[in-house]
Amino acid sequence: MTKTTQQTYNLVPYPSSPKRLTHPNHLATIATLFGMEPPPLENCRVLEIGCSDGGNLIPMAYSLPNGQFVGIDFSETQIAHGKQVIDELGLTNITLQHKDILDIPTDFGMFDYIVCYGVYSWVPQAVRQKIFTLCQQTLVPNGVAYISYNTYPGWHMRTIIRDMMQYRSQHFSDLDSKAMQAWAMLDFMADGVGMLRNRPDGYEAYYLLLERERQRLQHKPNFYILHEFLEENNAPCYFHEFIADAAQFKLQYLAEAEFSMMQPSLFPKPIVEALPQLTDNRIQLEQYMDFLRNRHFRQTLLCHVKASIDAPSASQLHNLYIASAAKPVSPQADVKSHAAQQFRNPVGTVVSMGDPLAKMAMYHLAEIYPKSMLFSELVMTIEHATGKSSPNLAQIMLKNFAVDIIELYRQPLSLEEG
Ligand SMILES: C[S@@+](CC[C@H](N)C(=O)[O-])C[C@H]1O[C@@H](n2cnc3c(N)ncnc32)[C@H](O)[C@@H]1O
Repeated sequence: MTKTTQQTYNLVPYPSSPKRLTHPNHLATIATLFGMEPPPLENCRVLEIGCSDGGNLIPMAYSLPNGQFVGIDFSETQIAHGKQVIDELGLTNITLQHKDILDIPTDFGMFDYIVCYGVYSWVPQAVRQKIFTLCQQTLVPNGVAYISYNTYPGWHMRTIIRDMMQYRSQHFSDLDSKAMQAWAMLDFMADGVGMLRNRPDGYEAYYLLLERERQRLQHKPNFYILHEFLEENNAPCYFHEFIADAAQFKLQYLAEAEFSMMQPSLFPKPIVEALPQLTDNRIQLEQYMDFLRNRHFRQTLLCHVKASIDAPSASQLHNLYIASAAKPVSPQADVKSHAAQQFRNPVGTVVSMGDPLAKMAMYHLAEIYPKSMLFSELVMTIEHATGKSSPNLAQIMLKNFAVDIIELYRQPLSLEEG
């Protein structure tokens, strides 16, 4: 079974690209917020499982020249391409190995951070278990593992698309034709159901599902359709099932790589009020939020059960660097009164702030961007300039991290050091 998947990736590679949320700097930042003392980044050891051509791992190795990076993938073509790029860049702190996950020995070495993006849901059960085994046996005690996967309930709906695409494309042998036919099938169905949408019996909801997927996939390349929809293995799961499976390997839920997705406070008020009445258990809370969002995909961070973790705390900001790409909407700075002032990030999210010291901090961060500074230095700068203490600043900044107005880092970006 696995051989067919291997062949598909050799024939139609899935080029990898940098994923910010998998970077050890981000993993260490989230772990710090949750009270862990993660391994130092300076000379960290990182394993990427299913690294494709190293498009994610190579930039990491470049950004942390004293770290050690190991990537494995069973597609010879993809690994060969990655090795060529590494040679051209002259990097000596990264190796890519042509290997099946099932053949990685458990004494492969120890790693501070393990990354597995876009693999877990597309491999057979034995491989999924091996991914957990590797996290259990090769992650250092305070290490962090990142695993992304497809989730229910969202994939219940997407499975309808996958099933119709597979049913059609099974009659074609070459991969390009399979992808084209899968596409044509979705097109035909969306158009066809569109003609029936005014009839009763739920056609409207069905049409919206097909049309939304058609639009989402419109600009996706063939390799995406092939590997996302036509792979023989695709095993989405509920979040709570993933966590229960991880627990069998003595791994526990640390957090999501997307911090914003963990914030019930970002839902409308009636939901915010109702959720605590449903549960006070964090796994159940996350699951209820997945039901609300009809979630398709997660980027979960795991650590050993023995690692001690807490609720995310603003007090941890003192161990982190802070930056902000957000700019004040009005050029008129008002950092004296409590009048609300707006700040907008590059993707258009706007927040209002009234706290004079927080506004001053935002102006300062906007001025020094893309540089970051230690949060404790920012506090000193603001307190020195105003002669006032800033007891709420950390809380306000953490809230703004949750909506991507603030960036937090365990280590300043190397881009800034040059
Ligand atoms: C969807 S791609 C994701 C690639 C990459 N992680 C990224 O983020 O773009 C899945 C990758 O897992 C690799 N893979 C799947 N099963 C594997 C196995 N049993 N052993 C090693 N690599 C595997 C494939 O060759 C492919 O490169």
